[in-house]
Amino acid sequence: MGSAKIIDGKAFAAGLRERIAGAVSRLQADHGFVPGLTVVLVGENPASQVYVRNKAKQTAETGMRSTKEELPAETSQEDLLALIAKLNADPEVNGILVQLPLPEQIDSNAVLAAIDPAKDVDGFHVVNVGLLSTGSGQPLVPCTPLGCLMMLKDQLGDLSGAEAVIVGRSNIVGKPMAQLLLGQNCTVTLAHSRTRDLPDVCRRADILVAAVGRPEMIQGDWVKPGATVIDVGINRVEAGEGKTKLVGDVDFAAAAEVAGAITPVPGGVGPMTIACLLANSVTAACRQRGVPEPEF
Ligand SMILES: NC(=O)c1ccc[n+]([C@@H]2O[C@H](COP(=O)([O-])OP(=O)(O)OC[C@H]3O[C@@H](n4cnc5c(N)ncnc54)[C@H](OP(=O)(O)O)[C@@H]3O)[C@@H](O)[C@H]2O)c1
Repeated sequence: MGSAKIIDGKAFAAGLRERIAGAVSRLQADHGFVPGLTVVLVGENPASQVYVRNKAKQTAETGMRSTKEELPAETSQEDLLALIAKLNADPEVNGILVQLPLPEQIDSNAVLAAIDPAKDVDGFHVVNVGLLSTGSGQPLVPCTPLGCLMMLKDQLGDLSGAEAVIVGRSNIVGKPMAQLLLGQNCTVTLAHSRTRDLPDVCRRADILVAAVGRPEMIQGDWVKPGATVIDVGINRVEAGEGKTKLVGDVDFAAAAEVAGAITPVPGGVGPMTIACLLANSVTAACRQRGVPEPEF
C-alpha cells in the first residue's frame, strides 16, 4: 500500500446523512414540514430494484417521507407521463426520481423533461443543466458529481487555480463535474475516448476524476505525484474461483503509491451518491417552501 490518504466515502456519507437528519428535524420543528422524496420504478430490473430499495431505506432513515411508485414493465409512456404530472402537482412531493434505465417503449428524455425542474433531485432536467452551466440561479446538481465535489473540498479546501482533469464526458458525471470544478475556479480539461495522449493529459492533473466505466484503465504512472484522485467507476470483474469483485476505473494499488489522496472502490464515491440525493431533496423542499436551505 502506498502513501496516499484513502478518502473514506462511506464515513463521509454517514456524516452527511447525520447532517441531513438534523436538518430534517429542524425543518419539522421550526417550519412544520418534512421533505418528501418519491422514487418511480418501471419494470423489474433487479439492479434497479436494489437501488430503489436502498434509496427508500436511506430516505426514511433521515426522517424524510419516502414514497415509491412501482409500475409494470409494459407501462406506456403516456401513463408514466400522467404519473409525473400528478407528482409535479402534489405539494407533498418535493423530489421526484425516475429510476433509469426505463423500458424501451419509453423515451427517457421525454420523461426527464416532464419532471418539474424544482423537483428534479437528479439534476438531469435541461433547466438544471442550463442553470449549472451558466452559473446562474439555483440548479439542482447531479448527485454523483456533487458528492465528488464535497469530498474534494473537504480534502483540499480551496480548489481555485487547480488543474482538474476529468476522464469521461457523460451527462450524469463528466460534464456536470466539469461545470462544478469550473465553478470552483479550477482549470478544467474534459477528456474522453478521442483524447490524444490521455496518460500525458492525466499527468497534468492536481485533481483527477475518472468516470469511464473501464476497469483499472488509469495506471499509476498517469497520476501526478501528490494528486487527488476521485474514482467514479464501478466495474464488476472476475476475481477467480467463480467469484466477482468491484473495481474502479483507476488501478488503485499503483495510483495509491503516487497520489496524495484517493477514493477506493467500493467505499468511495458510491456511498456519497445516495446521500447527495437526500441532500438535494431537502434543498428542493426548502426552495419550494421558501425557507432558508441548509448548507451541507
Ligand atoms: N459511484 C456512482 O455512484 C456512479 C454513478 C454513475 C456512474 N458510475 C460509474 O462511473 C463510470 C462512468 O459512468 P458514466 O455513466 O459516466 O459512463 P458513460 O456514459 O458510459 O461514459 C463513459 C465516458 O468515458 C469515456 N471513455 C470510454 N472509453 C474511454 C477511453 N478508452 N479513454 C478515455 N475515455 C473513455 C467515454 O468517451 P466518449 O464520450 O468519447 O464515448 C464517455 O465519455 C461507470 O463505471 C459507472 O458505473 C458510478
